[in-house]
Amino acid sequence: MNQIKKILITGVEGQVGFSIKNSLRKEFNTVGFNRNGLNISDLKNMRDVIISQNPDMVINPAAYTDVDAAEDNQKEAYLINAIAPGEIAKICSELSIPLIHFSTDYVFDGNKKNPYKENDNPNPKNFYGQSKLDGENLIIKNTKKYFIIRTSWVYSMSGKNFLTTMLKLFKENDELKIVSDQIGSPTSSNFIAEKILKLVRKYFVDNSASAYGIYNLSSSGETNWYEFAKAIHTISAINNKLKIIPISSKEYITRAKRPKMSVLNNDKISCFLREDNESWQDSLKKEFKEISS
Ligand SMILES: NC(=O)c1ccc[n+]([C@@H]2O[C@H](COP(=O)([O-])OP(=O)(O)OC[C@H]3O[C@@H](n4cnc5c(N)ncnc54)[C@H](OP(=O)(O)O)[C@@H]3O)[C@@H](O)[C@H]2O)c1
Repeated sequence: MNQIKKILITGVEGQVGFSIKNSLRKEFNTVGFNRNGLNISDLKNMRDVIISQNPDMVINPAAYTDVDAAEDNQKEAYLINAIAPGEIAKICSELSIPLIHFSTDYVFDGNKKNPYKENDNPNPKNFYGQSKLDGENLIIKNTKKYFIIRTSWVYSMSGKNFLTTMLKLFKENDELKIVSDQIGSPTSSNFIAEKILKLVRKYFVDNSASAYGIYNLSSSGETNWYEFAKAIHTISAINNKLKIIPISSKEYITRAKRPKMSVLNNDKISCFLREDNESWQDSLKKEFKEISS
């Protein structure tokens, strides 16, 4: 039955899009598009492509993800992160198919002391977070059949992300200063893809409308960028002379402000998929095991 379900995936050259296409293709008829094949900023063309593909589900990991650059390129970031997802939701509603969309821990301001639940009040500190939040709201306005998956601190072994940046810097430096006062949960794109496969499977088997909604999805546990860098250093065993020094956000000024605490509470997705999320440390080990095997 699964074989005949056709799933259209955007942004398949990004971390999450690439991992999702890889994991879903074994069980579903996946059609993946990179930005050249389906540019979600071109709303008219996007509509034509989606309608002509006639999918059973759309998954939208495409996004404007450069948090600092979004402060300066607000028009483009808003089109990609807010307007386009709203339009995708409208098209999905017209086709009466579900949409899985990705959002971020950066919809929160970080003032909470314990992990954020799905229904906590969002209050983004930067334009990226605001554009993603507006995207969520446009989706909710335009369709009933949505899964909005908020994830955090995404990394993978390719592309530009904290892990690949660290591996490069470890080779080039004997001392690195890394921010230690922002707390979150690093989440690998492969982990996200495994969970999305389970969600999609479950969706097509149960087809339960009550499951639609917003879900947090991150690895379990929490850390800060400094501790995450140290864990990557230990496991990668690159440059034993390297010293990693913790610094505060005040000593590392970025264009966009970031929340101090953006750990997500994963109880809702764990309950839905009936399994706990693996720890960020286990996910990290898995990534390194996979490249060495
Ligand atoms: N990365 C994180 O730390 C993080 C944290 C929380 C939530 N998220 C969310 O998770 C989702 C996936 O993020 P990711 O880490 O996989 O991001 P990513 O690696 O930056 O991938 C995003 C992809 O979207 C594509 N894209 C950008 N504009 C597009 C457009 N107009 N039309 C079609 N494709 C376009 C990009 O293509 P180009 O390479 O050509 O630009 C890229 O391949 C996003 O919704 C993001 O907001 C990410």
